[in-house]
Amino acid sequence: MCGIIGYTGEESALPLLLGGLERLEYRGYDSAGVALIEGKKLIVEKRVGKIRELVRSLWGKPYSGKTGIGHTRWATHGAPSLKNAHPHTDSRNEFAVVHNGIIENFLEIREELKREGIRFRSETDTEVIAHLIARSYRGDLLSAVLETVERLKGAFAFAVITVHEPGRIVGVKQGSPLVVGIGEGENFLASDIPAILPYTRKVITLSDGEVVDITPEGVNIYDFYGNPITKEIMIVPWDIVSAERGGFKHFMLKEIHEQPKAVGDTVRGLISSGEILPFSLKDFRRVILIACGTSYHACLVGKFWMEKLVGVPVEVVYASEFRYADIPVSDKDLVIGVSQSGETIDTKFAMNMAKEKGATTVALVNVVGSSIDREADHSVYTHAGPEIGVAATKTFTAQLAALYYLSLRENPDRETLIGDLMQVPSLIETVLEKAEEVERIAEKFLKKKNFLYLGRYLNYPIALEGALKLKEISYIHAEGYPAGEMKHGPIALIDENMPVVVIAPQDRVYEKTLSNIEEVRTRKGTVVSVGFEGDERLRKLSSDLMEIPHVPEDITPFLTVVPLQLLAYFIASKLGLDVDQPRNLAKTVTVE
Ligand code: G6P
Repeated sequence: MCGIIGYTGEESALPLLLGGLERLEYRGYDSAGVALIEGKKLIVEKRVGKIRELVRSLWGKPYSGKTGIGHTRWATHGAPSLKNAHPHTDSRNEFAVVHNGIIENFLEIREELKREGIRFRSETDTEVIAHLIARSYRGDLLSAVLETVERLKGAFAFAVITVHEPGRIVGVKQGSPLVVGIGEGENFLASDIPAILPYTRKVITLSDGEVVDITPEGVNIYDFYGNPITKEIMIVPWDIVSAERGGFKHFMLKEIHEQPKAVGDTVRGLISSGEILPFSLKDFRRVILIACGTSYHACLVGKFWMEKLVGVPVEVVYASEFRYADIPVSDKDLVIGVSQSGETIDTKFAMNMAKEKGATTVALVNVVGSSIDREADHSVYTHAGPEIGVAATKTFTAQLAALYYLSLRENPDRETLIGDLMQVPSLIETVLEKAEEVERIAEKFLKKKNFLYLGRYLNYPIALEGALKLKEISYIHAEGYPAGEMKHGPIALIDENMPVVVIAPQDRVYEKTLSNIEEVRTRKGTVVSVGFEGDERLRKLSSDLMEIPHVPEDITPFLTVVPLQLLAYFIASKLGLDVDQPRNLAKTVTVE
């Protein structure tokens, strides 16, 4: 993953780069660094750890260079150490490179360069780019970059500056995201739009196979053969204010509370788009849903809805598995890739593979203009707004809204079902009003080392999602399981030290779930349940009950997930952990 940023203009570049890096930090925070052109010299400053470490180390340093690049790293090749932190430079410190993605053939290039006498200072794949550019440089940075790109295999985006041409940044996009921000007498490069939103809302989204040449006066885009390309400038509607914390302690808590709006905006967006897809799901022999992480859990819920309300067979496959399995796919299949970022490389590659095999592809994404959006045959959007917390919350419920809408649009009871869906935002509000109760429950479980999450049918994926939220941000081991399957294994784990979170709304599997709770209680497990308000039977069986309003069973996943997000949040927050940027994770994963 990693985040990259570049600035060239009339201002001192350093504060702008650091501000941009802070907004990109969700992409990785193993180390951070900047490179600036100071007069005729290249200055490189880097630190292991978060951006604030870098910021502290720069206090009092009188840098005023007007061109620079910056990087925040999520380590892939080479440990998260100072020597592996970006920017990387050539042997004479004349060229600096920041890079996101992987150069797959870097070992081969590294050996070749070593034979030429070049001494490598890091273990990264990135360093080869700096040396290749320096080797190709004959007075024109763009030509040197074009020559270098010919040698590189993999999915990547990078930006480069040189002391020979102060004021110029060249950026390349091939697989990883890169956008250009257009200012007045200044221009920007970044891995995503929010990084540059405080400075400009005029943006060009680069496509794979494009190179951008930036100076304060202008932006020129070329293909990898050096042919000029004309691109449209987009005016971004987002307001940066919506990406600030707004009084909440963490972005994650803010985003949990934004779910009524995220779901409401998504439903309104879908309704106002009219016929969102020019075909019926039933026109296909089956639907394949592809995703990773939290988006995958949304797909698991979507499968139940599509099979029930549309009557089409649905398969859900992890994107990273889809690509390397021999799943028969043809033009008879509809493949829907679900991704918050629209940049997850596993999902992008899986979608492209399905397309090559003849399937019709649909992107269900939150970021308009993202790679998956652009490469799919059709797109459906969630309107959750930018999500900053690494653990996905509001984009999950927005994905549920879109998947439910896709399912109900073909059902004869469409009008009633849309009515139910329109109620969801205010129902989520009701659940959020009980956040303090969840906080009190969280207090009891801070010392636990393991959790089991159980649910059945539509709420089995919610058990998986609840467990994922807890492990992502609290580092407590948590396992999600279908409640009925517990007796075939996980039941062996249950004793008085094991909290078991059970999702038990009064749906078609309610009685069965209560029997599963009895099985847990018999083994002395502590049951924390999520169920309907006033469900006294469930309350008696549980040490704590997190209540949601009575709703039709299809609607329950929108509500049952909310107390589980809050439970994970309060546990992690009370443990004093970095909720928004949990260790080892990144929000957008653009490596396989
Ligand atoms: C990363 C994030 C997860 C996210 C997953 C898929 O692992 O940490 O929160 O669910 O990527 O991301 P996507 O953008 O494709 O939904």
